[in-house]
Amino acid sequence: MEFTRDNFQNEIKTFRAQMKPDLVSIAEKSLTLEKRGAVGIIWFDQHEEKANKLSSANMVRFFELLCQVEDDANLKALLVISKKASIFIAGADIGEIRTLASGSTSSDSLMKLQSVFTYLERMKIPSVAAIHGASMGGGTELALACDYRMVSDSPQTKIGLPEVLLGLIPGWGGTQRMPRLIGLEKSLDLILTGKTVDGIRAKKMGLVDKVVPQEYLLEKALAYANELAVSGKKRQFGSRPLKEKVIGSIPGGVWFVCDQAKKQVMQKTHGNFPAPLAAIDVIRKSYGGSIDEGLKIEADAFIKLMVTPESQNLIHVFYLNEGVKKDKGVQEKITPKEIKHAGVIGAGVMGGGIAQLFAGKGVRVRMKDIHWDAIAKGYEAAQKIFKKLVDRRRMKPSDMDNAMARIEGSTDFAGFRHLDLVVEAAVENLEIKKNIFKELDSKMDPGAILATNTSSLSVTELASVTKHPERVVGMHFFNPVDKMPLVEVIYGEKSSPEAIGSIVSFSKALGKTPIVVKDAPGFVVNRILGPYLNEAVHLLMEGVRPTDMDRVMEKFGMPMGPCALLDEVGLDVASKVSHVLYGAFGERMKSPEAMAAVVTEKRLGKKVGLGIYRYEKGERKEDLSLLEVFKPKQRASDLTDEVIVRRLVYLMINEASRCVEEKLVRQVSDIDVGMIFGTGFAPFRGGLLKYADTVGAEVIVSDLDIFARKYGDRFKPSKLIQEYSVNRTKFYS
Ligand SMILES: NC(=O)c1ccc[n+]([C@@H]2O[C@H](COP(=O)([O-])OP(=O)(O)OC[C@H]3O[C@@H](n4cnc5c(N)ncnc54)[C@H](O)[C@@H]3O)[C@@H](O)[C@H]2O)c1
Repeated sequence: MEFTRDNFQNEIKTFRAQMKPDLVSIAEKSLTLEKRGAVGIIWFDQHEEKANKLSSANMVRFFELLCQVEDDANLKALLVISKKASIFIAGADIGEIRTLASGSTSSDSLMKLQSVFTYLERMKIPSVAAIHGASMGGGTELALACDYRMVSDSPQTKIGLPEVLLGLIPGWGGTQRMPRLIGLEKSLDLILTGKTVDGIRAKKMGLVDKVVPQEYLLEKALAYANELAVSGKKRQFGSRPLKEKVIGSIPGGVWFVCDQAKKQVMQKTHGNFPAPLAAIDVIRKSYGGSIDEGLKIEADAFIKLMVTPESQNLIHVFYLNEGVKKDKGVQEKITPKEIKHAGVIGAGVMGGGIAQLFAGKGVRVRMKDIHWDAIAKGYEAAQKIFKKLVDRRRMKPSDMDNAMARIEGSTDFAGFRHLDLVVEAAVENLEIKKNIFKELDSKMDPGAILATNTSSLSVTELASVTKHPERVVGMHFFNPVDKMPLVEVIYGEKSSPEAIGSIVSFSKALGKTPIVVKDAPGFVVNRILGPYLNEAVHLLMEGVRPTDMDRVMEKFGMPMGPCALLDEVGLDVASKVSHVLYGAFGERMKSPEAMAAVVTEKRLGKKVGLGIYRYEKGERKEDLSLLEVFKPKQRASDLTDEVIVRRLVYLMINEASRCVEEKLVRQVSDIDVGMIFGTGFAPFRGGLLKYADTVGAEVIVSDLDIFARKYGDRFKPSKLIQEYSVNRTKFYS
């Protein structure tokens, strides 16, 4: 059917008639039209919510307002803008996509809404999107359909098409309009990675037309729209840069660029993420062709992706993250303590990172160590991280100076009396830590929270040396602190809900993802990783090459294989943690003897240039001298890649099921959050236990039984997973 206003209006009318009246009413409150002279302003202000999103009801409402603007002969230009403090439009309604994917509604309807933006693009009067804050997915697609885009210069302004992160592609014209606007290579970069750009970068790329100070956005955008109202000038795609012209004109140019992009995606994702591959395919098929044809290709690909397990799992992870954002960490109603001044004990790898994180978020930090040179190193480490942010234009140099000025060093407890929180990150030694806690207890205000970053020691035991054990908690960051999102918030036997809730709230303010975990050896993440890393050493001794093992686990979806991970963590550190776990849980956690040999041989990992691998100028290389330490057997013919994956992953699932059984976490999903955000566990599998559900407990138990007979009791299935196998229960019931 031809795309005309009447045809489309009729279609939308039928669509609107099927929508729930309350949704229509919310959309009417959320999107409003204001007429200022010759300019019609469509305001986005999602009713009673923090973020504007493009639900079906909002899209229909938007279309109706577009028609109202067109019907008013006095309105000669359109301005689209948001009333929210730091969000333009956060994207499509993911809840709706989830419902559509489950098949309960027609996916056709979602794609019909694609035409709303076509309609916007083809309006007779010019349109401007004025963007401040996050413009994501559908929000960016709306802006791309406008004739012009003006953005604020605020660092809060972030423009992107992050659909691939949910296993999807932009479905409302993003794969068509962005390449037309900024060219093939730049749009592939944005679409395939889901990364965002700020206003200044967006201007440089040609994605937006003007950047203005945030406080003048409305004023400037109105002036711009008024100019356009007079000129009536619609967008004209300027002449393409020479490179784009060449790509477009030489036979196979587009194919070549897309092929290169595909190779890069395959290298990064091992083909585990279908969405970027589908995006390349859509762009390859449609680039340079008619937009209507391209939109159809895009819509078809979107609908196919929506029902893939990868997309559904990534959306599951999105909701896990949303759950964390809402979770206060405790059931009790508490007022989280405000943390403005904090202390860090120990200025080593972790202490330096923690101080940097705090200072970057506006918290004043006192970093205490026993040596001045350690403090200097911690200070340097913090500065290096800030410097990188400045180099990448993620931070202004003046903000870096201010942040560094928030960090003070000391070798005594001067000034600790006034701190709201202290995080102890000294060496992993119980006696040293106990002494530190005794001192802190006497030196700090009784209302202050005392946290430890210990990886393996008992929070309850550390708290026992203080007069106020209720204010002692674990705040377990992961290395490197600036990159790893997870924080395990550990509650000891006497930790108060106020202390736990405050650390949960503070972790979120730091931009981290906290999960609340009961005090138990290894907490959750290291405990689950323990048997995995031990098994990697068993496999090496059975003749599996480290590169082969790492390759199969990367193919499974881990960000790095277990051998590379052992080197990153440090074999001495892994061995120590393993020792603690062995002490607590016995034989199943015993690390193979070869592990001790590796440590004795000072093959401590990347930090010393030699571990499982050898490191030359930061590059990882296979090292044959490892064979002398491990004296591996000939790899058995039945030790296939598939068996390697199952041995490694099922051991983690088995341990995770024990953590569930022992109620170390309040909900199953916390384990998946922990593994994804603490170890990078394959997010497209939805998390460790979601993956267990996909495989099925009966299959896992059957394999574990076989492995136990063949390789030893460490594979014996846990009580809970056996029960699940018999009752066909799932972790996510
Ligand atoms: N490195 C990791 O990957 C990692 C990850 C999570 C948690 N942790 C935990 O964080 C803590 C610190 O680990 P790290 O890797 O930063 O160690 P590190 O060896 O790099 O740093 C420890 C620092 O503590 C200082 N120190 C020792 N005794 C002290 C005392 N009495 N008072 C003040 N400072 C003292 C040392 O001088 C050193 O600068 C440990 O408990 C460790 O288990 C480490």
